[in-house]
Amino acid sequence: MKSMKLYSDVHRIYNNLVALGIGPQDGLSVAALTPFDQYHYDGTEAVDLALSRLDLPAYARILDIGAGIGGPARYIADTTGAHVTALELQPDLDDVARDLTRRCGLAARVTHECGDILDGHPRGPFDAIISLLCMLHIPEKHRLFAACRAALRPGQAMYIEDFAHSRPLTEAEAESLAVKVQCTQLPTPDEYRAHLAAAGFSDISITDVTQDWRRVSASRVKAAKAAHDANVALHGAATVAGLEDFYAAVDALWQGGALTGLRILAR
Ligand SMILES: C[S@@+](CC[C@H](N)C(=O)[O-])C[C@H]1O[C@@H](n2cnc3c(N)ncnc32)[C@H](O)[C@@H]1O
Repeated sequence: MKSMKLYSDVHRIYNNLVALGIGPQDGLSVAALTPFDQYHYDGTEAVDLALSRLDLPAYARILDIGAGIGGPARYIADTTGAHVTALELQPDLDDVARDLTRRCGLAARVTHECGDILDGHPRGPFDAIISLLCMLHIPEKHRLFAACRAALRPGQAMYIEDFAHSRPLTEAEAESLAVKVQCTQLPTPDEYRAHLAAAGFSDISITDVTQDWRRVSASRVKAAKAAHDANVALHGAATVAGLEDFYAAVDALWQGGALTGLRILAR
């Protein structure tokens, strides 16, 4: 996982907080964190969209698969009455997520679990599943969606943001995707739908958001370039070089037409 540079030095968020005058022992608000803790496209706007599509019952129990450093989980708990179980594979990301959640005073509303969704973590049933840009890391879609179905209360919905492809990848694109994005297999949108249906999901709605994500990716590269010196002063040259390399590699895939972006709702 650590060959994907978004995931190295995840403690860098503490540098961003110190720059705002927030020390390691200080309390936090979700609003102070959201510019730094959303590891997907379109930040909290994308989470708002997910919530509107899921149409949750009051006090819903939600499973967030691939929670990263916990940004979406905290935002959901803070803006709704829901309880979120935030499942994250990588221990260093999970540690940072727990610390930030505790400092936001949300520990009773967000439960962090470190583990792999393929191992059947965690115990359901949940009223909804949300998963933002995690499933691209998991080639075994059959096992993945079986685990999702087992965790979900019958009839309830799962909302996914993920990558797919709409044309065969070149060898160089496939290698870049595997090494720099930790993604070794991408389905087409039709294959995605078929995998979900085979696991027992129905009412499958798939929205193509390629144009939006392509634009967001290009702005991310531009913003990183503009803030290069300030970022080096804040995080150090190695961390910034790694992030800029990651942003550029993903952007080359987007602008070259290798990737398709999907928002998926399935019941
Ligand atoms: C791009 S990040 C997105 C994080 C978060 N969803 C967000 O939007 O801020 C994807 C996350 O999924 C996690 N992940 C990948 N495979 C996983 C698995 N099998 N089980 C649980 N988490 C996984 C990664 O470690 C990573 O933190």
